[in-house]
Amino acid sequence: MTLDQLHLLFFKNYDEANLAFGPGINCFVGDNGSGKTNLLDAIYYLALTKSAFAGADAQSIKQGADFFVVKGKFSTPALERPETIQVSMRAGQKKTITHDKQPYDRLADHIGRYPAVLISPYDTDLIRQGSEERRRYFDSLQSQLDHEFLELLIQYNGLLRQRNATLKQGTGSHGFDTLYLQALDDQLAPVGESLSALRVTFLTQFIPVFQRHYAQLADGREQVVLEYKSQLPGQNFRHLLLANERRDLLLQRSTTGPHRDDFVFLMDGLPVKTYASQGQQKSFAIALKLAQFELLAGKPQPGGAAPTKPLLLLDDIFDRLDDKRIARLLQLVADQTFGQVFLTDTNLARTDQALAGVSSDIRRFEVRAGNVAAI
Ligand SMILES: Nc1ncnc2c1ncn2[C@@H]1O[C@H](COP(=O)(O)OP(=O)(O)OP(=O)(O)O)[C@@H](O)[C@H]1O
Ligand SMILES: [Mg+2]
Repeated sequence: MTLDQLHLLFFKNYDEANLAFGPGINCFVGDNGSGKTNLLDAIYYLALTKSAFAGADAQSIKQGADFFVVKGKFSTPALERPETIQVSMRAGQKKTITHDKQPYDRLADHIGRYPAVLISPYDTDLIRQGSEERRRYFDSLQSQLDHEFLELLIQYNGLLRQRNATLKQGTGSHGFDTLYLQALDDQLAPVGESLSALRVTFLTQFIPVFQRHYAQLADGREQVVLEYKSQLPGQNFRHLLLANERRDLLLQRSTTGPHRDDFVFLMDGLPVKTYASQGQQKSFAIALKLAQFELLAGKPQPGGAAPTKPLLLLDDIFDRLDDKRIARLLQLVADQTFGQVFLTDTNLARTDQALAGVSSDIRRFEVRAGNVAAI
């Protein structure tokens, strides 16, 4: 699958942009703050229907404008004609996503159809920040790989919201309806257990791929481990909910369940967060993303179509990695491991030098204060 054209209107620092991409490597080069990462984010929007960086969609509307449009034309070998995906939003209104001008009934129906993997300097947040960041990352990845997981997650989050709202009412003036809480728990328990079981299955697939990528990138220097931390496997979730009911009522929130799971990252037996250097942390995050790429690239498409390689978005990849690690990463680009690649850099000469040995089709775009043109 390739993104052949991108059209932006009032997206972040762009008034308007129209770009035609090549099937190989597309490089965005420009100064700090010119809008390179914003272009990757626009592509990310087409794949995942949301920004990789901004919290609220409204932040992606250009200052002073009241709507944005991101439109992309994709082509797939299996399909004869290109498909157009458009994401748009008007301030104060709901975002809309259309596929060949047809709106989706649910955003969830779009997820996973146009896969993309972003490698960015913010990836180390996965290591440095709290468990929520890691859950969000793995949930998003698993949702792209497995529609059943996404449906269960939506169901679980809905039930959890109801449960927490009920717990909050518990101490209010209307008294508390334990029967209602238990009825919710009857529904929540099997969904939570299934979610946790799917996380276990997913990790047995993911971990060896991740470890192989780390070993390749770091040339076997450090050993990395990823562990699933959860109260659930082997436990009856219904019993756990009951056992914690008093505490939950007191704290007015649900203190057990897969929404509290974590993923533990270790390097040579010690926490990556406190032990590993910045470059090692960056390598760890890149290995996670390369494993993500490999799993997504192997996923059969809807209707039994052949798997498609995700778009690879490389933001500031030359930052913090030593030359050997950059060379091993670019070797993957040269080996045609990836399909279409979009990368950003502030320095054209460095990009050209790094890609000197790569035989793919290479296109360069100069980005200057919200304007972008092929060079
Ligand atoms: N909603 C918005 N309206 C207007 N400008 C915005 C909006 N959101 C972000 N920007 C601006 O877009 C500019 C470019 O951001 P971007 O992150 O794409 O730069 P960059 O080229 O990747 O820079 P760097 O090399 O520093 O990573 C920033 O100066 C930012 O203030
Ligand atoms: Mg940037």
